[in-house]
Amino acid sequence: MKVSTILSFSALFMASIASAAAPDLANKIDTCVKPGVVALTFDDGPGIYTEQLLTILDKHKVKATFFVLGIAMASNATFPAVLKKVYDQGHQVASHTFNHNPLDQMTVDVMKKEITDNSNAIFNAIGVRPLYMRAPQGACEALCTKTMEEMNQVVSHWNVDSFDWKNRDLPDPVGLSMTQFNDFIVKNGNVATDSFITLQHDIHQFSVEKLTDQVITAVKAKGFRFVTMEECIGKPAYEGVAMKPTGTDGAKPTSPSDNKGATPTGGASMTQVGAWAMGIVALASTLVL
Ligand SMILES: *[C@@H]1O[C@H](CO)[C@@H](O)[C@H](O)[C@H]1NC(C)=O
Ligand SMILES: [Zn+2]
Repeated sequence: MKVSTILSFSALFMASIASAAAPDLANKIDTCVKPGVVALTFDDGPGIYTEQLLTILDKHKVKATFFVLGIAMASNATFPAVLKKVYDQGHQVASHTFNHNPLDQMTVDVMKKEITDNSNAIFNAIGVRPLYMRAPQGACEALCTKTMEEMNQVVSHWNVDSFDWKNRDLPDPVGLSMTQFNDFIVKNGNVATDSFITLQHDIHQFSVEKLTDQVITAVKAKGFRFVTMEECIGKPAYEGVAMKPTGTDGAKPTSPSDNKGATPTGGASMTQVGAWAMGIVALASTLVL
């Protein structure tokens, strides 16, 4: 996909949110607050391939973020221990709700229960409560966003989708999913200006066993550094736990001011403001053309 196409999408996005309530965007994240980093994220686990994924990530000394489901943890007696292993190895554990149902179709009370139940399940497994969440299907409209804000949850979206969930049924799923990473990051990504949050699922075998290794190799060669969502956004990963120092993933921070991009209390980062500005410029040029 060409950058111009991406900009057109962001223009469409800008147009679509222009009429929505302004606070919606502030807490809904799909890029990091600074350029040059990539946050690998894995949804819907823990699963039977999660430990294998840990081995692959460890081989590359890469830390990732896992958006996990209480319902998955309850499905296999070993999974809470698997999640503890994820946490102990320095990856970020985040919430994907307990049941993976669409939040926008729930009352606020049920929505809150989805987050609280999952927080309890995660706490029982690893001893801390997550402050990052991803909505099932990425769907979190105004009421959901407001509710998540009230619960101090960072609503975490993505800007590169591996589509592993649908490619797994097609011939050459690795090639198809790699196309996504190549188009967005390897061909059109710019270390000086761009950051990426990628989406995979550690419940899909090919995505764990074959895709992840190729993604890491290609993205690393392009010069991007891997971060957890905590470092991507600059807000703590867990209730009552201080942020880890920058660059604990084994790579050096890109600059001394690396970790000063955001405040724990939120507000738009300069990168986001820049992205919006680009969206407006793209929108304006679309209108002119
Ligand atoms: C439970 O998970 C383990 C891996 O942690 C796996 O070896 C086992 O097959 C799973 N059991 C079921 C019934 O899925
Ligand atoms: Zn999911």
